[in-house]
Amino acid sequence: MLRRPYHDQPDSFEFTPANTAWAEAQITKYPEGRQASAIIPLLWRAQEQEGWLTRPAIEYVADMLGMAHMRALEVASFYFMFQLQPVGSVANIQICGTTTCMICGAGELIAVCREKIAPKPHMLSEDGKFSWEEVECLGACANAPMAQIGKDYYEDLTGERFAEILDELAAGKVPVPGPQNGRYSSEPVTGLVALTEFESGRTQYNASVDRAVELGDTIKRIDGTEVPILTPWLGKAGKAPSETPAAKATAKVEAPAAKPAKTPVAKAAPAAETVEEAAPEVLTAAREGGADDLKMLKGVGPKLEQTLNELGFYHFDQIAAWGPAEVAWVDNRLTFKGRIERDGWIEQAKQLAAGEETEFAQRAKKDKLYD
Ligand code: FES
Repeated sequence: MLRRPYHDQPDSFEFTPANTAWAEAQITKYPEGRQASAIIPLLWRAQEQEGWLTRPAIEYVADMLGMAHMRALEVASFYFMFQLQPVGSVANIQICGTTTCMICGAGELIAVCREKIAPKPHMLSEDGKFSWEEVECLGACANAPMAQIGKDYYEDLTGERFAEILDELAAGKVPVPGPQNGRYSSEPVTGLVALTEFESGRTQYNASVDRAVELGDTIKRIDGTEVPILTPWLGKAGKAPSETPAAKATAKVEAPAAKPAKTPVAKAAPAAETVEEAAPEVLTAAREGGADDLKMLKGVGPKLEQTLNELGFYHFDQIAAWGPAEVAWVDNRLTFKGRIERDGWIEQAKQLAAGEETEFAQRAKKDKLYD
């Protein structure tokens, strides 16, 4: 199967405010200059929000990480977990077709998909509600055959039960995931024969099913409000979480009251003062001798460098001369706000304009991060 962007794409993509806060928090997990490492979680969240990975979403995530669009597309097209074409509006059904599931009846489940959804994988059903695909082992072999629907596993399936589940989903219901043959988890179907004392700890559902039922998110598109955004790594680094950009972003998210965070969650950051913007001096082209390599500034990738050039900035000394009003002007013209301050462009630009090296520039040159 060719892995390339679908021919029909939406005009744009944007993370929900809560998903933006989540993404900003993820980016802080990685050391300076390695923010592109957040590409997979961010693409995954974009897919969770939209159902599939659109080209605008791939480019949006690339811009967020200061990466060339092509680099992000390479990642998205390499991993089969990323859906590059539209999936069912209700669910994309993933049938495990590996040995154990195949021996135990995955063929029957695939036949149901062919009959009820579409004759071939990755095709939409006539009503657009479902799509399906065969995937490799999903790690629930003891409960074969099984299918992943949305975020949850439906296990110990028969063709008949699976068909019912599809009907229930089509009718707007969310069937309880987990074993469908009365098993609690993956114990022998005839009941426990050893460690029977552990029977006493049973709740209505096993832990993962219980969680799914509690969240009710089996087929929900993820908008970021489902669980609190936790950033324990910021605490470990010794920084006051409320002083970090991620924390400021996190502070915008209302965490559900019923699920208190186990680890420190950012407190609301003080409201930033509004700065009147003023247009900086711009150039229509680079001076004689050529433009500086603005990618030596932390957080500036090829795409952002191009944007800066288009705005009229080609040299470190131009950036070094910005005051708060000029920063506000530029910030308002970038896709992602707060980057100039967060990544310390002015300080770096001053050093680079003076012919000094910065730690980031040294590393960028050594690693050829953006080549
Ligand atoms: S073989 Fe199907 S989950 Fe492992």
